[in-house]
Amino acid sequence: MAAFDIPATKPAIVNAVLLLLVVAYGISWFRSWRRLSHIPGPRGWGWSIIPWLRLHTRADLFDQFYDLTSAYGPLVRVGPNTLICSDPDVLRRLSAPRSPYKRSDWYFAMRLNPGHDNIFSTRDETRHEALRRKMAAGYSGKENVSLEHDINTCLLELIDLIERKYLSTGGNILPMDLARKIQFFTSDIMSQIAFDYKFHDLEHDLDRWGYLAEIEALFPNITWTATVPGFLKFMTKLGLLQKLAAVGDGSMGMSKVKSLAFEQVSKRFDSDGKLKDEKRDMLGSFIRHGLTQAEAQQESLLNLTAGSDTSATSMRATLLNIMTNPRVYRTLMAEIDDAIANGRIPSGPTDIITEAQAKELPYLQACIKEGLRWYPAVTGELSKEVPPQGDTICGYFVPGGTKLGSSIKAVHRNSTLFSPDPESFRPERWILSSQPNGHEKSEEKLKEMERNNDLVFGYGKYQCLGKPVALMELNKVFVELLRRFEFETKNPLKLWHTQCCGTHLQKDMWVVVRRKKAAAN
Ligand code: HEM
Ligand SMILES: *[C@@H]1O[C@H](CO)[C@@H](O)[C@H](O)[C@H]1NC(C)=O
Ligand SMILES: *[C@@H]1O[C@H](CO)[C@@H](O)[C@H](O)[C@H]1NC(C)=O
Ligand SMILES: *[C@@H]1O[C@H](CO)[C@@H](O)[C@H](O)[C@H]1NC(C)=O
Repeated sequence: MAAFDIPATKPAIVNAVLLLLVVAYGISWFRSWRRLSHIPGPRGWGWSIIPWLRLHTRADLFDQFYDLTSAYGPLVRVGPNTLICSDPDVLRRLSAPRSPYKRSDWYFAMRLNPGHDNIFSTRDETRHEALRRKMAAGYSGKENVSLEHDINTCLLELIDLIERKYLSTGGNILPMDLARKIQFFTSDIMSQIAFDYKFHDLEHDLDRWGYLAEIEALFPNITWTATVPGFLKFMTKLGLLQKLAAVGDGSMGMSKVKSLAFEQVSKRFDSDGKLKDEKRDMLGSFIRHGLTQAEAQQESLLNLTAGSDTSATSMRATLLNIMTNPRVYRTLMAEIDDAIANGRIPSGPTDIITEAQAKELPYLQACIKEGLRWYPAVTGELSKEVPPQGDTICGYFVPGGTKLGSSIKAVHRNSTLFSPDPESFRPERWILSSQPNGHEKSEEKLKEMERNNDLVFGYGKYQCLGKPVALMELNKVFVELLRRFEFETKNPLKLWHTQCCGTHLQKDMWVVVRRKKAAAN
């Protein structure tokens, strides 16, 4: 015990100061716990960030967040200063155009290039709004950008890859990891539209720049570090993150992609930073609306990551359900075959359905909505900061400065909104009809469902800018794959391997693809 004896020579005043510091720390700890102690949550989580941090290392946030709000109600305390909420009205209120809430420091970790903000990580409201203004037109595809053409080209390359390498016939089975090929598809699209330098992963059937492999290693780390922004800020100050990001020789992975993106962006500017060529693509549109060279570089990196795994997840989850539900498959195929027979959609080997034609197929639209609902692609904390005056949320007073995050799967599986069977994949719920076939009878209820389903893209001033791009992809991909091919799961006991780190990482979705026989009629 001698080791704990305080040397008698130490002046008493030092001891008193030490004691005082310990007491002061204890009190501030207690007060920080008490601030939100009236809000339900798992025992002990209000005392320290550690349980919340540990939950983020488990790579199944999709279920974890859902289980928390299912167990404790629509508002749950998950950390000393962090709440998550599953009430759709509250989530809309946070992000409404004139809401006094702003992004919390959770978003700090969304900087893909240490030390530099992008539109998704910036917490400066004025800057965020200005960036959105400059980028909105390009994303909407309204400025005769080549968006639809670029997506069609990539889709034809996906089809070509399947026909070249993965068409099974009879007993000759050539299994294909559909999760991987879809990732090639979405990252080819995003690299093309984000910085006009297509990866050509589909053409080579390969993660050519090591980008996907790096994302898979990086995302789990981004997820847990987002819960401890103080640590990240500290590392950035010391320059450690910048060093980490620069490891490797730059020939593969994130640093390679960064240099590709930067090079492509700099081609649009001449040596004194003036706009050089006037390409009518998305990047060109951003720049014409005043995005500077430095801004364009950061944003091109972000878009790539924001737009590839998200759309890929929605495609995989929807296809998985179509493949494994005979009723859904038959109904959708009947609609597609009928539209082809009536010439409402084209059917040549290199034809691709237009977005306008896809919108005329009600069951397809229902499948798209149901896929987005059943498996929301972004499920992280995405917390916003309560304004200084505080707010009343789900009946509880929440003091200013609290981080209020979302539990998005709980919104989309909410049994009030999506009764009677929120857990099942059932496109019929999205079709208005008085027939007793599980269709929705009330127009009002359907409107309410649509409004809430839209929350998969966030809302208001923070809503996903890539929504039109994502919807255009979804409108095309199912029809064009299913009218050409039949997909079987290779092993019905193991449909896919999926992890959720805020966005989903999926692999080993092994399928057997055969050419589809022509429709009987
Ligand atoms: C199904 C596919 C997608 C889903 C579910 C989705 C969902 C989301 C969500 C939930 C947010 C954040 C909202 C918030 O912070 O509160 C977001 C932001 C964003 N998304 Fe998407 N996204 C998808 C596809 C895409 C695509 C394809 C692109 C690019 C073409 C894209 C670009 C962006 C950008 C730039 C932001 C940041 C917007 C801002 O900070 O103001 N997303 N997305
Ligand atoms: C389900 O939605 C309703 C209606 O918007 C909402 O009042 C309720 O809190 C939600 N339930 C949960 C568990 O979040
Ligand atoms: C993402 O936004 C940035 C803005 O420059 C832009 O540079 C990039 O092209 C965009 N990418 C995508 C996908 O849109
Ligand atoms: C992420 O963390 C794992 C360990 O959990 C580590 O092996 C890996 O290198 C990290 N990835 C990156 C890109 O930092």
